[in-house]
Amino acid sequence: MEAALKQALSATSVAVEKVLDPILRVPDGPEAKVYEAMRHAVFNGGKRLRPLLVLASAELFGVERSCALRVAAAIECVHCYSLVHDDLPAMDDDDLRRGKPTVHVAFDEATAILAGDALLTIAFEILSDEKTHPDPRVRVELVKALSKAAGAAGMVGGQMIDLSAEDHDLSEHDVFRLQNMKTGALISFASEAGAIMARASKQAHASLQGYARDVGLAFQIADDLLDVEGTEEEVGKAVGKDEGAGKATLVGILGIERARQQAQILADQAIDHLSDFDDKALLLRAVAHFAINRRT
Ligand code: IPE
Ligand code: IPE
Ligand code: MG
Ligand code: MG
Ligand code: MG
Repeated sequence: MEAALKQALSATSVAVEKVLDPILRVPDGPEAKVYEAMRHAVFNGGKRLRPLLVLASAELFGVERSCALRVAAAIECVHCYSLVHDDLPAMDDDDLRRGKPTVHVAFDEATAILAGDALLTIAFEILSDEKTHPDPRVRVELVKALSKAAGAAGMVGGQMIDLSAEDHDLSEHDVFRLQNMKTGALISFASEAGAIMARASKQAHASLQGYARDVGLAFQIADDLLDVEGTEEEVGKAVGKDEGAGKATLVGILGIERARQQAQILADQAIDHLSDFDDKALLLRAVAHFAINRRT
């Protein structure tokens, strides 16, 4: 991995955890268990790619870092919630996540459902707080964009199609749509967040949307390739599961080689969308390379 990106990811991880630690402080009462489960889901070594996208897009427009960090924390909460629920027995039924037992294994199913619910809702508490942005219109815009990305028209809708597709084949076009929704929507929110916070031009929004669409698809193709080619140690989760579960993936439709080529085309295309931002977009370009070359 490019040294600058590696450094940026680990700095992002430290900074976002610093924001989330007090927010997720465990209270004294009997509800403590759900906080423990939320902490288990969040403080466990995720790559923090979506927070990095928020920070990198915010830097393009000179957005204050303390504000961007709160948006980064909010999207990571939504992402972690999506993983907790994705791993439940009713969904992908996975025991390992980020190299540790999944939340329903470490706690129990009911607690995992509640911890997911609470991580989702706390994201909106974070976004709507004055500390996130001085302009209430921007805060509403952030809330609206994240709820749309996370909901039935975005991530949740994509997860629904992912599960429904387990017993029938999807066309290549339909798999692209599924992945745009299940993975692309949150990545798009993260990439566009800087433009929302800066009230940037329509053109800037459009460039970042184009970038995010391609990176999101490339990122999910890489995830599907890692399911076939990666090891449990590398990715921190079970591998070799998608085919047996009947998951609709581009790797399944195109085969490994063509899927890899497709991911490369998408990463190149993503970078083409950044031409207006010159050197300011170095990190976003590095993310596009990382999305497809990662082993984790
Ligand atoms: C995993 O996301 C789920 C997908 C959408 C592919 P990441 O690969 O970003 O997982 P973490 O956050 O690093 O664990
Ligand atoms: C999940 O996709 C994407 C989410 C919205 C959580 P996967 O089911 O392929 O993610 P992993 O492989 O379990 O991380
Ligand atoms: Mg899944
Ligand atoms: Mg899964
Ligand atoms: Mg996967």
